Amino acid sequence: MTARIINGTRIGKEIREEVCADVLRLKNSGVIPGLAAVLVGNHPASHIYIRNKIKACDSLGVFSKLVHLPEDTTTTQLLQCVSDLNHQDSLHGILVQLPLPNHIDEAAILFAIDPAKDVDGLHPLNAGNLALGHAGLRPCTPSGVIEILLRERISVKGAHVVVIGRSNLVGKPLGLLLLQQHATVTLCHSRTKNLGKITQTGDILVAAVGYPGLVTADLVKPGAVVIDVGINRVDDKLVGDVDYEPVLKKASLLTPVPGGVGPMTIAC
Ligand code: GUN
Repeated sequence: MTARIINGTRIGKEIREEVCADVLRLKNSGVIPGLAAVLVGNHPASHIYIRNKIKACDSLGVFSKLVHLPEDTTTTQLLQCVSDLNHQDSLHGILVQLPLPNHIDEAAILFAIDPAKDVDGLHPLNAGNLALGHAGLRPCTPSGVIEILLRERISVKGAHVVVIGRSNLVGKPLGLLLLQQHATVTLCHSRTKNLGKITQTGDILVAAVGYPGLVTADLVKPGAVVIDVGINRVDDKLVGDVDYEPVLKKASLLTPVPGGVGPMTIAC
């Protein structure tokens, strides 16, 4: 068996076209949507992410403001920056790119973002609403994974979805979103015993750890749908968490890196 490769670039474009229509409607009613993207320091992957997010805004007619602060910015300074952005009426969304430098209190920063402008859905109010199944803003990468599954008509209801990774940004919110779609969800992580035994029972397997090649073919149930959220740089090449070629021969559907979940995160 050779898996069909899921084209995240195409699906992301489809979503952006829908958003473009929404942006037009907003503009016709006198609102120009605006997004602030805050980058602290020079994390290479964050640079790429932020650049692509700003480019996506430009292509959609969304006003964007990039705030690039130096690596030695303090928590207090960043809190002040977030507070200023909260009060700017032309900005409807605020995105503080993660990871932040280690000396910054990340939780304090995320808590300071106005929950109504928290496009990453990482404020405790939005994260709590997600956990309770209430409406609210949702993190982009998990939303992107859900959109892939829905738009590729991959049935999630009753399926066993195994997610490797329990981060606040991806694993935890994705588990909750999948539960809302009536999946049976197992979250695995670095302390999980017998990882392979569990992953081999996953109808859908999601890898979101940031460890290149972690998901080898023997971890995959034959015919499973495999979603690779990892973005790792190895020898100047972008690779995911999935051992691509061998898994391609075992799975039924597979997202590539690049061109899989990445463009979906930007679109969402
Ligand atoms: N770092 C990696 N992915 C993301 C994301 O979706 N949002 C933010 N804020 N930081 C990230």
